[in-house]
Amino acid sequence: MNATAAVQRTARRKVTIVGAGMVGGAVAQILAAKDYADIVLVDIVEGLPQGKALDLMQAGPVLGYDTRLIGANDYAATADSDVVVITSGIARKPGMSRDDLLRTNMGIVRSVTEQVVAVSPSAVLIVVSNPLDAMCHVAFDAAGLPRERVVGMAGVLDAARFRTFIAMELDVSVEDVSAFVLGGHGDTMVPLSRFSTVAGIPLPELLPADRVRALEERTANGGAEIVSLLKTGSAYSAPGASVVQMVDAILLDKRRVLPVSVRLSGEYGLDGLYVGVPVKLGAGGVQRVFDLALSESERAALHRSADAVRELVAAMAEMEGAAAGSA
Ligand code: NAI
Ligand code: 2OP
Repeated sequence: MNATAAVQRTARRKVTIVGAGMVGGAVAQILAAKDYADIVLVDIVEGLPQGKALDLMQAGPVLGYDTRLIGANDYAATADSDVVVITSGIARKPGMSRDDLLRTNMGIVRSVTEQVVAVSPSAVLIVVSNPLDAMCHVAFDAAGLPRERVVGMAGVLDAARFRTFIAMELDVSVEDVSAFVLGGHGDTMVPLSRFSTVAGIPLPELLPADRVRALEERTANGGAEIVSLLKTGSAYSAPGASVVQMVDAILLDKRRVLPVSVRLSGEYGLDGLYVGVPVKLGAGGVQRVFDLALSESERAALHRSADAVRELVAAMAEMEGAAAGSA
């Protein structure tokens, strides 16, 4: 039996990953090893998703998993997916303006979303493409699904970075570190030390304020730090692991409390805007949005971060208006 037939006949859960690049490949690799869901990789580049899928199938006998993976350049094989992860997009290249990047990725995310939802109307969508919170808006508008089923991954990654830096600073296990990050995915994100703990001990009780601030700043610049080291691309291992934590939460109905980009409906005084906040993630997507009482300075920082997302959303609306005007 070929792999396509195997994925079609399986009773396992089904996850589609659109974009078989660095992040999509990492998601597939980590999820495949968990052995509970079959995976369809989709990309516009012919051979890329097929090659990665076959390679990962061939790791199964060695690592001991039976995950079926297939690669495709269209959406037929993705039908009836339970979760769809959207990592398709381009990275900003030298000479490219922020608006050029926004326009290109907006077009890609819209078209991908329309195509996945047409064949998987019950799926939960996890957006990864950047600029993250703005791309969540595009996916939400194109999907026509409730907000519970269109979410963005960034906070899990940002919190993982914060946890790593805290553990490195204190020379303790990352397992004992819990960190909290609010806001949009960008340099305006808000790492919140007050809610970050080591074995339940609040971070400000363990480190002086200037060290805490330094770790918060390093977290906010965490993506750029990796780009400056890699030079030819951005992070993919930690992003891949972060996506899989969200997939696990949804498909195993774990009801994890994770920072997720979600469309706010009045929580934190924000309405109709995608921003990262703690949610309960389980079957069906977001089961609850936690609306915490913030201090005045924390609330101001969150609103500054939300303003940065709002600016991108306005820029996209302007581009659409201009395109409609010239049509
Ligand atoms: P990549 O360039 O390795 O992969 C992107 C893939 O998307 C490519 O294989 C490309 O062929 C494919 N693609 C482009 N247009 C497509 C379309 N219309 N349909 C299907 N596939 C298409 O990039 P990488 O490193 O995997 O990053 C992917 C995205 O994720 C980027 O936008 C990046 O900035 C973002 N990212 C977001 C993170 C987050 O925390 N939210 C973390 C890391 C990356
Ligand atoms: C990151 O934070 C590029 O958004 C990506 O690594």
